[in-house]
Amino acid sequence: MCGIVGYIGKQQAGPVILEGLRRLEYRGYDSAGICILADDAFQLRKRKGKIDEGLARLLQAQPLEGALGIGHTRWATHGPPSDENSHPHLDQRGRIVLVHNGVIENFDTLKNQLLADGHTFKSATDTEVLAHLVGVHYDRLEAQTQHAHPLTRSELPLLTQAVMEALREVVGTYGIAVLCVNQPGIMVGARRGSPLIVGVGDGENFLASDAAAIVAHTQKVVYLNDLDVVTLTIDDLKLDRLDDATARYEISALEFKPEAVELGTFPHYMLKEIYEQPRALENAIRGRLDLEEVTAKFGGLNMTNAELRGVERIVISACGTSWHAALTGEYLIEEFAHIPVEVEYASEFRYRNPPIDHGTLVLVISQSGETADTLAGLRESRRRGHKVLAIVNVVGSTIARESDGGIYLHAGPEIGVASTKAFTAQVSVLALLALLMGRIRMLSANRGRQFIQALQALPQQMSQALALNDQVKRIALKYQNAEDFFFLGRQYNFPVALEGALKLKEISYIHAEGYPAAEMKHGPIAMIDDQTPTVFVIPNGAMFDKTCSNLEEIKARKGPIIALTTEDKAADLARKAEDVIALPETLEPLFPLLAVVPLQLLAYHIAVARGCDVDKPRNLAKSVTVE
Ligand code: G6P
Repeated sequence: MCGIVGYIGKQQAGPVILEGLRRLEYRGYDSAGICILADDAFQLRKRKGKIDEGLARLLQAQPLEGALGIGHTRWATHGPPSDENSHPHLDQRGRIVLVHNGVIENFDTLKNQLLADGHTFKSATDTEVLAHLVGVHYDRLEAQTQHAHPLTRSELPLLTQAVMEALREVVGTYGIAVLCVNQPGIMVGARRGSPLIVGVGDGENFLASDAAAIVAHTQKVVYLNDLDVVTLTIDDLKLDRLDDATARYEISALEFKPEAVELGTFPHYMLKEIYEQPRALENAIRGRLDLEEVTAKFGGLNMTNAELRGVERIVISACGTSWHAALTGEYLIEEFAHIPVEVEYASEFRYRNPPIDHGTLVLVISQSGETADTLAGLRESRRRGHKVLAIVNVVGSTIARESDGGIYLHAGPEIGVASTKAFTAQVSVLALLALLMGRIRMLSANRGRQFIQALQALPQQMSQALALNDQVKRIALKYQNAEDFFFLGRQYNFPVALEGALKLKEISYIHAEGYPAAEMKHGPIAMIDDQTPTVFVIPNGAMFDKTCSNLEEIKARKGPIIALTTEDKAADLARKAEDVIALPETLEPLFPLLAVVPLQLLAYHIAVARGCDVDKPRNLAKSVTVE
């Protein structure tokens, strides 16, 4: 939520920051702005709306000059989207400029104090209050320093000191980048609860909410920790802490190349990422199968088999699509390892007081590794002394760093706001985890081997599923004007039905609901008429006949039916459904990994047909770093 970029170096900062903001636009697109500091003056440009419609046009009319600057792309929290509420924000005297990702929870109290001291505000944001607060401390420190004996003066630049003093008064979360007119050689960044990284260049340095913004310029990054404050010059990085901990950092190499965040020949990131799924799946399982022992192995779990054997219960906490992957994981782990699994919405889990005893393992799942609720649940569990494992895509993200161990997806950057390849990678990793947990309990080598073979066949089968794109597009065009949609499935196919509904509603704004197929009778079936399509996820398997009965119930009420099934059942279903999408056969637990592909494509084509902005759906942001 909100993306920030900062640049200090020798290049023109404007284009570097603008390009970086474009890469971060998935984090919010209510407005965007840039401020450049050159010749002891700020040049500030900000506009409501998406970058290309607002800021980029403004910059054509009023270009920027200078090699030091900060920028922001906004997902509105305090104050509606408007030019005034866009970042960057200035302090009272116009000497400090600041961009912010997060929420200043005590901004009301701080604002009232500042108002009482005669400050005036141009926006309704919490961020402007922070800018003013930094300004107040800067003014005070500047006055003090003029009178201080040289030996008692701090070695820290005044701006860094002022930022630190201001942040000590703040309750809430922040990732910030700050400049001061009087200190043209430095840029200050700080974080607490919102992500911030430093890009280390050659004669230039960067700040960014994530690596996608700077990977075109450098592969070397420093992942900042909460309470870190960094002061950057063109060739130096100095780290300080807001607490008493020792300030230390290490430079890491990014694991993806600039091409990974390019759109290439695809019209949208979402479509690109849907098509990347066979490769993402291969990457998620590569090197993690032990064919001899017929099991899975993970480098970073930090748990011995004996410890894993001691796990009596698993609680999985996640949000959104990651929650759907978690639900699929529940079915997989319970069937293969016979361990009870509970799946919690992270936003509920963090404030509940669920009984977690010694035998319970907490697992969190997050594509971004930054989702505020998921992170808070992780922290609370660790505070109570529980071991927490994380399944994460973004390397070096906060959740990855704060967990006791975990598994990276290796799916590569996911830019489209609607998650696609992260879901399939998450489910594949959960399938491997179920295999591992199963094999140290009661899963036979024979069943394990069968499962491994089916997993290995999946990337190729997923490519076959992608080849159905034209058929799915035809179906999408047929139903593009529907107002309601249902997605039904049973057992393993229930979570993927939820995911199909979520994909459709988030990018096409059509009301869509996912249900366990038989539960439909208890209310939702009242909505069915000849204008309300239902997508059934109904592969051959133990639940086929039962799900067929549910399908007949919809058909009897004239509801149009799209059946996603396995090739061997396509002919049967052609007699009952308006449309049948036939997917390759696999083991029942793995069918969701194939079924989700046409569901994603269906949502995509409907959204495109309705003229929706697929990669930037209204009101959403990819990385939800506020509660
Ligand atoms: C947002 C995104 C979803 C995502 C969810 C959880 O709502 O729009 O696509 O599934 O956050 O994000 P995470 O990064 O924790 O998986």
